[in-house]
Amino acid sequence: MAESPRSLEAPALTTPRLLLRQWRDDDADAFAPITADPEVMRYIHDGSTLDRAGTGARIALWRRHWEQHGFGLYAVELRATGELIGFTGLATPLFLPEIMPAVEIGWRLGRSSWGQGYATEAARAVVDQARSEFGLKRLVSVHIVGNEASARVMVKLGMRLDRETVQPDTGRPLRVYAMDL
Ligand SMILES: CC(C)(COP(=O)(O)OP(=O)(O)OC[C@H]1O[C@@H](n2cnc3c(N)ncnc32)[C@H](O)[C@@H]1OP(=O)(O)O)[C@@H](O)C(=O)NCCC(=O)NCCS
Repeated sequence: MAESPRSLEAPALTTPRLLLRQWRDDDADAFAPITADPEVMRYIHDGSTLDRAGTGARIALWRRHWEQHGFGLYAVELRATGELIGFTGLATPLFLPEIMPAVEIGWRLGRSSWGQGYATEAARAVVDQARSEFGLKRLVSVHIVGNEASARVMVKLGMRLDRETVQPDTGRPLRVYAMDL
C-alpha cells in the first residue's frame, strides 16, 4: 500500500522499492541518458531522442503541470540506491483531443530498470493516490501499437481497451486503455 510521507508538502509516494518524488533542478543530468536512448524513445511520439537541453525543458514542463493541476509525473528513484530510474505519474493528454477531457497515467524507465516490475509497482501507487487523494474518477493510458511492455502494464493495472486510433501529428497507430477508479 502506498504511503504519502509528506502530505502537507508537494505530493510524494513510497512503495516497497521506490520513491516517487517531485523533480529537482539536477535531475536532467540523470534523466538525459534515458531520453537519449533510442530504445527507450522508440514508442514515444515520433521516436525522437532528446538531448540534455531538451530533457531539461521537458522536466520544466512537468513541474509546471504539477503547479497547474495539482498532479503530474513523478521522478522515480530506487530507494536502495537513490538512483533516478525514470518517471511514472499523471499527465493531461492534450496530444489526443478526441479523448479529452482525460487524465493519463504513464511511465518511462531507463533500459537497465526494465523487466523488474518497477513500472507496475510505481503505477499502482499512482492509481491509489489518484483515487484516494486526488479524487479522480477515471484514468486513461495510451500506447503506440507494438509497445507490448507498456500494454502489459496497463492490463496488469486492470485497464481495458477503450479504442484504437492514430496519433494526429505522426499517424502512428495508438491503443487507448481506460479504467474507472
Ligand atoms: C513500458 C515500461 C515503462 C515498462 O517498465 P517495466 O518496469 O519493465 O514494466 P513491468 O516489469 O512492471 O511490466 C512489464 C510487463 O511487460 C511484459 N513485457 C515486456 N516486454 C514485452 C514484450 N516485448 N512483449 C510482451 N510482454 C512484454 C513483462 O513480461 C511484464 O509483464 P509480466 O509482469 O506479466 O511478466 C518500460 O519498458 C519503458 O520504460 N519503456 C520505454 C518507454 C515507454 O515506452 N513508455 C511507455 C510509453 S506508452
